[in-house]
Amino acid sequence: MDPQRFSRITGTGSYLPARRVTNADLAAELATRGLETSDEWIVERTGIRARHFAAPEKGSSDLGVIAARHALEAAGRLPEDVDLIIVATSTPDMVFPSTATIIQRKLGIAGCPAFDMQAVCSGFVYALSVADSMIRTGAANCALVIGAEVFSRILDFNDRTTCVLFGDGAGAVVLESSTEPGILASKLHADGKYRDILCVPGTVSGGQISGVPLLKMDGQAVFKLAVGVLDEVAREVLEAAGRSAADIDWLVPHQANIRIMQGTARKLRLPPERVVVTVHEHGNTSAASIPLALDHAVRKGQVKKGETLLLEGVGGGFTWGAVLLDL
Ligand code: ACO
Repeated sequence: MDPQRFSRITGTGSYLPARRVTNADLAAELATRGLETSDEWIVERTGIRARHFAAPEKGSSDLGVIAARHALEAAGRLPEDVDLIIVATSTPDMVFPSTATIIQRKLGIAGCPAFDMQAVCSGFVYALSVADSMIRTGAANCALVIGAEVFSRILDFNDRTTCVLFGDGAGAVVLESSTEPGILASKLHADGKYRDILCVPGTVSGGQISGVPLLKMDGQAVFKLAVGVLDEVAREVLEAAGRSAADIDWLVPHQANIRIMQGTARKLRLPPERVVVTVHEHGNTSAASIPLALDHAVRKGQVKKGETLLLEGVGGGFTWGAVLLDL
């Protein structure tokens, strides 16, 4: 492996479906089911004010391909330049083929490897780390790394403790080979013993759905676990890169809950204004949340080229991971 070969983000893109659903809209919808919630409860517990829901006929590939096109445009690349596609999603268009191959087709290209990454809300961090490894070994030069989700499809709108938390969207980056380090280090983890605290316990069998294909979560167990592992993995990735928390210009965390994000920043002694926050407008878009937040921050000039970013995610599995990079 060439020690002078690195990977670097050269473009970002994102896409949110047009339908914006406020907490008040959701409260009105839940009231028709005899359930009570309020803007005040949701904002206080999570920071979420609104989320976007895709039209029923749109799948993750429809959202992901638009985000991918925006990222390619920002990188000054054409679909033909892409030689690797990884899509992080837990809401694929179909059981198979992968959403990555569907996006490849929609981009009008063929031949390069394309596959999905299933690590729920850590999916984008996992996908970015794998793409970085493939670029550094010379297996790819120009990768599209996409997070795309239609979580609205797996929400139980009769469960007010979960359905208010999630939204749909997509984000993407173009990751290219470089002689200058972009990605400095990454660390990934999983522990399957936490399977039941966050899952969609349905499957397809004999032409039928068996089990319930709707999201189930023990919110307090998830909260506790998330704050601990995010702090640990942040320190681990900083140590691997020979950097300290003081070197971080921006924390771009998985956008699940403002209290988890603030807790992570506090433990790293990062001021709250150094945390990229989009959860108030996007809700939790699972694997899409980090690239969506990153693209929004880049496009509004908040995050700039040359700055050091800590990306970190945690989600079902449990899975968690972090990537430290120079943009
Ligand atoms: N509206 C109004 N009241 C509600 C709602 C709602 N939408 N949901 C729950 N409540 C009620 C409960 O029924 C309970 O009432 P009770 O005291 O009469 O029994 C009360 O509010 C408190 O419920 P808790 O579940 O204890 O609320 P908590 O403060 O733990 O907040 C939350 C719940 C927001 C889910 C929190 O646990 C959390 O953020 N957990 C992290 C989960 C997360 O972010 N998951 C994202 C996926 S995983 C990931 O991305 C990392």
